[in-house]
Amino acid sequence: MDRDHPPWMLLHLLMVLPAVAGSAGPLTHLENVAGKLVFYQTQGNATYVRDAGELASHVPTETMFELFDPQRNFSTAKFTYTWDLGNGEVIKGSEPVVRYLYPQSGNYTLRLKVGANMPQYAPPITGVYSKDVQVLDAIKNIELAGPADYTVSQGSSLAFHVDGSPPMWVCWRFLTSCLPDVAAGCTLTMLYENTLELNHTFTSTGLHCLDISVRNDISQLQTSFSLYVRRNDHTHLLFILTCAAVLVATFSFILVVACRPWKQNASQVAASSNAAFVKDRDAGGESDVVVTFSSVEKGERERLLLQLGPQYSS
Ligand SMILES: *[C@@H]1O[C@H](CO)[C@@H](O)[C@H](O)[C@H]1NC(C)=O
Ligand SMILES: *[C@@H]1O[C@H](CO)[C@@H](O)[C@H](O)[C@H]1NC(C)=O
Ligand SMILES: *[C@@H]1O[C@H](CO)[C@@H](O)[C@H](O)[C@H]1NC(C)=O
Ligand SMILES: *[C@@H]1O[C@H](CO)[C@@H](O)[C@H](O)[C@H]1NC(C)=O
Repeated sequence: MDRDHPPWMLLHLLMVLPAVAGSAGPLTHLENVAGKLVFYQTQGNATYVRDAGELASHVPTETMFELFDPQRNFSTAKFTYTWDLGNGEVIKGSEPVVRYLYPQSGNYTLRLKVGANMPQYAPPITGVYSKDVQVLDAIKNIELAGPADYTVSQGSSLAFHVDGSPPMWVCWRFLTSCLPDVAAGCTLTMLYENTLELNHTFTSTGLHCLDISVRNDISQLQTSFSLYVRRNDHTHLLFILTCAAVLVATFSFILVVACRPWKQNASQVAASSNAAFVKDRDAGGESDVVVTFSSVEKGERERLLLQLGPQYSS
């Protein structure tokens, strides 16, 4: 049926369809009427249709020209396709599909020139299709840049480097002691660059988790970080000081208790020795000995006692 299409039908087609102004000839109406470009990308086992004009860089891409020809008017045509990827690369072929990849993110205009050689027509019918594509880097990695350690009750500012094309939607949450909290949602932030800064104050020591989910128009990545939060140095010092104070107090108490009988003896001795001195000698100089006695160390005290001892007995 298709083979015996008279040429007047094509002439009729020429007249009916509005001709689009262009150097390619009167049949450039193909651009709007007879087909479209469809983009596919394959990541892992999955193939995605990228019809929003956004593509991932470094990902095998397939662009297909889907001819709209329900009446099979072009069934006898021999097609040629010239694909200009917009990055300097031009691919020619006879298939309505091209396989390539954009190695770099950026904005490109992909242009396809279709040529249909009809046996009935001397000059080939051409059509030009173009599509602006935005090539984005998929989010591949989230890296914690710092700091290296965290202290409790102290504001920490965590810096991350996120590989991928912005803008990105980031949702993050801290899990105390890494306990999963179904009820807790995450905090949503918009990221317009590749660095993410999160401010957080840890309320307890030990292991904590941070869940981060990042998404851009073409990819998504979810990851979790384990963070060890140690005691605040300040609190630590305070603790040590408290312990030291308690120890000192305890030792002092023990000392006092242990030395009490000595002290009593000593004061008795001192008192009696003093009395002896007062009795035997001048009161002025010797009373000083008694005063210094109470404030000197135990060793000194014993020495004094020994000194005083003979004087007492004498
Ligand atoms: C790909 O397919 C295999 C088996 O069919 C499966 O085990 C694997 O998880 C898939 N990978 C992805 C990224 O979906
Ligand atoms: C195909 O040809 C028919 C006439 O046979 C015409 O009515 C129709 O518009 C043509 N279709 C296209 C897509 O050119
Ligand atoms: C690419 O185009 C989009 C709009 O389509 C724009 O927002 C973006 O800034 C452009 N990127 C570059 C690198 O020019
Ligand atoms: C964290 O604090 C810094 C300044 O100290 C600020 O620039 C940044 O926006 C804050 N981040 C968040 C998520 O609030």
